[in-house]
Amino acid sequence: MRVSIITGASSGIGRQMALLLDKTENCDEIWLVSRQADKLEETATLLNTKTRIIEADLSLNQSIYEIKKTLSELEPEIVSLVNTAGFGKAGVFEGISLEAQMNMIDLNCKSLMAITHICMPYMKRGSKVYEFASKAAFQPVPYMATYGATKAFVLSFSRALNRELQGKGIKVIAVCPGWTKTNFLSRAVKDDTIKRYDRFYTPDAVARSALKDMSRSKDISAHGLITKANMLASKLLPHKLVMTVWCKMQNK
Ligand SMILES: NC(=O)c1ccc[n+]([C@@H]2O[C@H](COP(=O)([O-])OP(=O)(O)OC[C@H]3O[C@@H](n4cnc5c(N)ncnc54)[C@H](OP(=O)(O)O)[C@@H]3O)[C@@H](O)[C@H]2O)c1
Repeated sequence: MRVSIITGASSGIGRQMALLLDKTENCDEIWLVSRQADKLEETATLLNTKTRIIEADLSLNQSIYEIKKTLSELEPEIVSLVNTAGFGKAGVFEGISLEAQMNMIDLNCKSLMAITHICMPYMKRGSKVYEFASKAAFQPVPYMATYGATKAFVLSFSRALNRELQGKGIKVIAVCPGWTKTNFLSRAVKDDTIKRYDRFYTPDAVARSALKDMSRSKDISAHGLITKANMLASKLLPHKLVMTVWCKMQNK
């Protein structure tokens, strides 16, 4: 059984990835994973491929072991794995609760690595892994310090794994979106810490770029001119300067 697995498929970029893989991958099933089964059902109604709904809080180790068990029982061939489940919190460091900070690391880093690990035995030459980082991965991000650090983890992890898996013909891409119109912001921003957003992209455009960049065997997907410019600036300029520009944008 050929399957694609999408974490965070209940909304935003994950839902768009499901819509695109439904059309482009010849799968027997698409597995949709997140905490809200009713929202996953909504995604499922938009797809032609048969779906399997997996209601799981991926920040919990138990959820990872349950999915591992399902995999060992069904032994699917995993054609695509898409790890979009993630969240951010903006604000002064000590103002964001310890629980939220730890949960961000658990979901954005630990669960992403763990899902990739448990899926790996079911991948073959040609399998694809989309790991969702952010443009925040390219530089340290004051006032989103933990979030930026989690995404730097995803970027580093994904690129290293892509190189490691070259011989096996399995491709891994770090998708690094700029600001994108999804539910992300309502969870991330609760005050006026972030005062200026350079530009918003659509989840559809981000997802399409991810597929295109994967087909070109890139190891990073950065959609849009502003995102690409951010990536370049973070490569060329001292990070102290890049942080100063970001802080000035936010009147800090
Ligand atoms: N939007 C942006 O501006 C932006 C920019 C750069 C990077 N990103 C990254 O892109 C990815 C997708 O975000 P998005 O913009 O599409 O935001 P979104 O609409 O809020 O989607 C986040 C997804 O993650 C799932 N999720 C959250 N906590 C979870 C948990 N504990 N266990 C399982 N699933 C969980 C949510 O589903 P449930 O609520 O149903 O669990 C939802 O499906 C994230 O990794 C985000 O960091 C977003």
